[in-house]
Amino acid sequence: MTTAQRPLPSGFGPASTAEDVITGIDLTGKVAIVTGGYSGIGLETARVLRAAGAEVVVPARDLERAKAALKDMPGVEIEHLDLMDPASIDDFAATFLATGRPLHILVNSAGIMATPLARDARGDESQFATNHLGHFQLVARLWPALVAAGGARVVAVSSRGFRFSPVVFDDLHFEHRPYEPFAAYGQSKTANALFAVELDRRGRVDGVRAFAVHPGTIIDTGLAKHVSADVVRAAGAVDDEGRPVRDPARQFKTIPQGAATGVWCAASPQLAGLGGVYCENSDISPLVPASGEAGWRAGTETAGVLEYAVDPEAAARLWEVSERLTA
Ligand SMILES: NC(=O)c1ccc[n+]([C@@H]2O[C@H](COP(=O)([O-])OP(=O)(O)OC[C@H]3O[C@@H](n4cnc5c(N)ncnc54)[C@H](OP(=O)(O)O)[C@@H]3O)[C@@H](O)[C@H]2O)c1
Repeated sequence: MTTAQRPLPSGFGPASTAEDVITGIDLTGKVAIVTGGYSGIGLETARVLRAAGAEVVVPARDLERAKAALKDMPGVEIEHLDLMDPASIDDFAATFLATGRPLHILVNSAGIMATPLARDARGDESQFATNHLGHFQLVARLWPALVAAGGARVVAVSSRGFRFSPVVFDDLHFEHRPYEPFAAYGQSKTANALFAVELDRRGRVDGVRAFAVHPGTIIDTGLAKHVSADVVRAAGAVDDEGRPVRDPARQFKTIPQGAATGVWCAASPQLAGLGGVYCENSDISPLVPASGEAGWRAGTETAGVLEYAVDPEAAARLWEVSERLTA
């Protein structure tokens, strides 16, 4: 049965942290992979899952940076993976599958935002390739381990930035329209949300459930490195002195708050038997009308997902296109 796109309510909220939502949950015997688990939201996710007892694997395109970031987390495994390089995705998955371990939790936190136009070796636009296609391929290759878990969760770390753009199926890679960095980011984050919808539909028969997550606006991660200080200030994420604004009710969160929803989706028993929904503030998001757009821009509407980011038909179409693009 399809899970309703509306709050449970979970009892958690915008200020909840990853530690809050994992309290009382024992992940001993569970295996988790956290892409991007060596920076920002992913790093905190890896830390909290490990502290709850999970075996944690962090795929990294920069092994030395990953080793430095994870040096205080004994037992976390690091393996090479570059989401822009399909062969490295296959190699990572083959290495993991060769261990014979099931995979109970996959958190797809790696991502890039508003980068200058770049393409991978196949010619695919880099934000779509990294944020969506790389993770699509990773899930496909890890499928046997997810099924073997007998109850697995995949968390697609999306963003409210999905509002910048739907998936533009006629020109996924900006070949026929001017490149706009935030439109490309928005398209990739809508793709993350749609991926969770279709992955859940296809996976639930095998016990694989999927969730999409908006973490909040967390300015002290590495994500905004391609965004100018003016744009960051205009978004309200820093004050006039450049200090991060902390106001979780308006989505301006710390890293522990930003990691909370993904950890909740990965591990909470409150979501048993559910999936295919977009979540934020450690709860399922409400579905909101597109007419609320002005409120979102003015900052009065702070939560909610639009229909186009959870539309089952678009999700099915994206799946077929992604299968073709990743062969
Ligand atoms: N921070 C926010 O306000 C916010 C808001 C909404 C959604 N999100 C989402 O949250 C997720 C985590 O972002 P963050 O804020 O924690 O950013 P971050 O600190 O920059 O972390 C992103 C991670 O992704 C890795 N990565 C990037 N490209 C990769 C590739 N080709 N292959 C493998 N790994 C790659 C980065 O590795 P390198 O260090 O090697 O580049 C880094 O470890 C992203 O999906 C982002 O879209 C963040």
